[in-house]
Amino acid sequence: MLRPTLARLGHAVVAVADRDPARGSALPFPGTRWLDGEDAVRAWVVEADAAARGVCFVLAIGGHNGAERCRLADVLTGLGLAPLTLVHDRAWVAETAHLADGCQILPMAAVGEEAVLGRQTIVNTNASVDHDCRLGEGVHIMPGATLAGCVTVGDHATIGSNATVLPRVTVGAGCMVGAGAVVTRDLPPGATVIGAPARPLTR
Ligand SMILES: CC(C)(COP(=O)(O)OP(=O)(O)OC[C@H]1O[C@@H](n2cnc3c(N)ncnc32)[C@H](O)[C@@H]1OP(=O)(O)O)[C@@H](O)C(=O)NCCC(=O)NCCS
Repeated sequence: MLRPTLARLGHAVVAVADRDPARGSALPFPGTRWLDGEDAVRAWVVEADAAARGVCFVLAIGGHNGAERCRLADVLTGLGLAPLTLVHDRAWVAETAHLADGCQILPMAAVGEEAVLGRQTIVNTNASVDHDCRLGEGVHIMPGATLAGCVTVGDHATIGSNATVLPRVTVGAGCMVGAGAVVTRDLPPGATVIGAPARPLTR
């Protein structure tokens, strides 16, 4: 969803980086500069005078990878690039909500009144973050997931597709809430839960 969102908002992609050459060369960005990993990015930023030209960055790393998204954001801001905060024109963000740098609010997503989202947090397609929610950095609310009002989500936690978190519940840092789960109680940091009501995933 990131590529059409960037296009729709009128951003021109000047370079694309990936650690995996096979994946990177297959990316659908014809005519853009391909950069093979972090060292190549460092070299290109200098060569292209990217910081002085006001080049911004966006991290196309979804999944349960919020810590890595934040680490890379630190690397790129250290190189002088600015994190881009994206709000798709078909998303809705309340005027009283606060989005920190690098948030991505994708098509049909909603962010309610007084919600506060930490940096590099993604509210994916058709997901909903209701009023007074507090989300840490590097959080991912996957497609169709719903956070009811006054929910707290710790750093780097992920809420799976179509999961629901009930009002005033706290999801600890690094938690993984499975697709379709219904979280009715607070979760400790690092928990992985599935089902309705959500229970720890045991193997
Ligand atoms: C919860 C989750 C992280 C577990 O992943 P995992 O550790 O790789 O777990 P596995 O796939 O090995 O499944 C382990 C067991 O849990 C079950 N299970 C996995 N996810 C489940 C879910 N969301 N709800 C119910 N049961 C689930 C599996 O059927 C399996 O059961 P079994 O042992 O009886 O066969 C993952 O399944 C999930 O839901 N991720 C969210 C995916 C998503 O929403 N992606 C959107 C991308 S934008």
